[in-house]
Amino acid sequence: MTVALRLSEITHRHGAGDRASLDGVSLEVAPGETVALLGSSGAGKTTLLALIDGRLHGWRGTANVLGRALLPDRIQPGSERAEVGFIFQEFALVDRATVRQNVLNGRLGRTNTLRAFFGQFSAADMVAAERAMADTGIADLASRRADSLSGGQRQRVAIARCLAQEPRLILADEPVSNLDPTRASDILGLITGAAQARGATVLFSSHQPDLARRFASRILGMRNGCIKFDSPADRLDANMIEDLYREELADPRTALRLVV
Ligand SMILES: Nc1ncnc2c1ncn2[C@@H]1O[C@H](COP(=O)(O)OP(=O)(O)OP(=O)(O)O)[C@@H](O)[C@H]1O
Ligand SMILES: [Mg+2]
Repeated sequence: MTVALRLSEITHRHGAGDRASLDGVSLEVAPGETVALLGSSGAGKTTLLALIDGRLHGWRGTANVLGRALLPDRIQPGSERAEVGFIFQEFALVDRATVRQNVLNGRLGRTNTLRAFFGQFSAADMVAAERAMADTGIADLASRRADSLSGGQRQRVAIARCLAQEPRLILADEPVSNLDPTRASDILGLITGAAQARGATVLFSSHQPDLARRFASRILGMRNGCIKFDSPADRLDANMIEDLYREELADPRTALRLVV
């Protein structure tokens, strides 16, 4: 496959009278690329990730994800999304289930539904789950209940669940926005490193240009539903950031966070 995803002239409004949340977005991402999405609040990052995840409807344009065309008038069923993994900021774990059961939930789109319902996962499912737990450093927590874990451990479980799915495309919406700097770079390193080891493509959104530059090879700058720049990470400069976050930089309460 020559591209992991190809979007052409995508336009979308959340409500009839709203301004466009996506305004003529065209984008190609090659398999194995790690791409960061930057942009101020309301720029359209979450909407773009939801589109690529097959959860947005009522858009115009054409979209192809992992060789499959998305249809603008329906939400894509989970069975067609088995190869796309999404890491949610709020983790969405099953609290009363163990870590291993939570991670195995990542296999649901790939396994017989009835068997999975009775907890009968295949040997391949178990291998993928154990590898994901080992890679995220939670193998020793496998039998613990999710609600007995710390916030950081829960986050690792959510990442392991995504990796167990063996996605070819990993989407993450601000996966490290609430974390201190050390933990933020640990977690982004984990996601991008595990994806690279598996040859998976990654698209993550962030408000932190420094982290985007460290962990992505390519950076997209969004503003008002448009892609304003598309740059190799090592060419990101202060002018590009200034253009993206004009309003925030004018406000001393938020300006410091954005220094590149
Ligand atoms: N459910 C919704 N209903 C109506 N408008 C929405 C909805 N979700 C998003 N929007 C609007 O769509 C535009 C893009 O929003 P989006 O959530 O994609 O931005 P974002 O870049 O993810 O912002 P943030 O950094 O704050 O998460 C904004 O103008 C927003 O107000
Ligand atoms: Mg968002």
